[in-house]
Amino acid sequence: MDPAKAAENAILEHLQSHDEIPDSQQFAAAAGFEHGVVENVVKSLCGSRTIEAKEIKEERWALTDEGKCYVDAGSPEVQYFLALPSEGEILMKDLEKKLDPTVYKVGPSAAVVNKWVTMRKEKKEIPGSKKAETIVYVSRKVANVEDKVKYLLKKIEAGEVVDEKDVDALKRRKLVILQTWRGYSLRKGPEYVLVREKAATDLTREHIQRGDWKELKFKEYNLSAQVQPIQIGYVQPLLEVKEEIQNIFLQMGFEEMPTNNYVESSFWNFDALFQPQQHPARDSHDTFFIKVPSTTKQLPEDYLEKVKQVHQSGGYGSKGYEYDWKREEAEKNLLRTHTTAVSTRMLYKLAQQKPFVPKRYFSIDRVFRNEAVDRTHLAEFHQIEGLICDRGITLGDLLGVLEDFFSRLGMSKLRFKPAYNPYTEPSMEIFSYHDGLKKWVEVGNSGMFRPEMLLPMGLPEDVNVIAWGLSLERPTMILYGIDNIRDLFGHKVDFDVIKNNPICRLGLQ
Ligand code: PHE
Repeated sequence: MDPAKAAENAILEHLQSHDEIPDSQQFAAAAGFEHGVVENVVKSLCGSRTIEAKEIKEERWALTDEGKCYVDAGSPEVQYFLALPSEGEILMKDLEKKLDPTVYKVGPSAAVVNKWVTMRKEKKEIPGSKKAETIVYVSRKVANVEDKVKYLLKKIEAGEVVDEKDVDALKRRKLVILQTWRGYSLRKGPEYVLVREKAATDLTREHIQRGDWKELKFKEYNLSAQVQPIQIGYVQPLLEVKEEIQNIFLQMGFEEMPTNNYVESSFWNFDALFQPQQHPARDSHDTFFIKVPSTTKQLPEDYLEKVKQVHQSGGYGSKGYEYDWKREEAEKNLLRTHTTAVSTRMLYKLAQQKPFVPKRYFSIDRVFRNEAVDRTHLAEFHQIEGLICDRGITLGDLLGVLEDFFSRLGMSKLRFKPAYNPYTEPSMEIFSYHDGLKKWVEVGNSGMFRPEMLLPMGLPEDVNVIAWGLSLERPTMILYGIDNIRDLFGHKVDFDVIKNNPICRLGLQ
């Protein structure tokens, strides 16, 4: 019979002739059931009101593994005593051979304290050397001993009450520990029967045809039962945070830029940003170059000429980089390394519009860098970028906008550190205080676009652009408590992480 059914029968049978089962633990142990099985049966029997149960919670002393050993074999001090000859002495060394190592170690101290044994030391010269060794002899001091420890352990094992002082001594010897014990006392319920009828769970067509539904006993609804988890779709954390940030930008009056071109020319990714052609970021160690098609031929010729001039010989108050600018280098196709390439295209477009209209732009999309992949770096990630293009904009505006933007993201403590970008001056790295990590973490990069970038486009001279960029992954990892970027993005993402993360179900806020 299945153990649950057997336990149910045993409980109901017992209650037929007894008022009470005072202790389900003892009942289970005596009848040979696991208490977990009995517990489930008790819950089910209470549900149908066949029995009533009261929970009992108590603290009880239980034997440790070492304590259990001594219940049969006797306490170590008694084992030690019994190993001694009834008359005369035994060499300590010989005793060691006879005894279990724990008994040999633990036994003597209690045996000596109890005045059961004596030890006699003798110095003996080692033949052929000037040194002496100490030899220890052990002998009995009394004829018989009583094993009180064994007796107490047996009592505790049987659940009997033992004097507090004695328990304390056993506790100090780590032979007993206090355990929280939980069980039930059981009595008949209002619906008590010796054999529970199986309650029907469904009303079927057959029940109605046969008419036996009138006699059927239906199982009551358990309104507090947990339902099966529902298989639904979950929003990827990056998408969730992306939407949140899109909303922040929209609330701040920004328009989204079209970012649907992963492949970009070096011209728009680097040259138009006044990034010199020898710059290390333009090396294949940092950037993925495209093999087919390897170049872009269609570039705005007038503008290209101005970009070439500003690199080679400067202008607009700058002396440029003074090198031989090569068109072939600008034509090379690559996977865009930052969305600032998109910002540049948009600013160029804006510059062609007359009269000038101020703009606030943002984008959130994928960028690519030839990086070694580790816990915090991937070769592709998402970049968030914002810019404001207007007359008379200052560094003060940049600080204010950043404070506003980041505080809407929940990062209100900011610090700025001077930095370098070829296309911004001044440039600032942005740090935010992370309450969880209790330190300042870098959250973005920012600056004012240089005149060498803006003026060749044809923007009016009094127009300035403040801009900033950050990765989407970083704030997402902070918000979701994910510490390995590969759990968030890429082919190693574990769907269970997404399924089990409550924010993926409930959304942010
Ligand atoms: N393009 C920069 C980066 O990739 C971010 C940035 C954008 C910096 C705009 C300054 C201004 O890190």
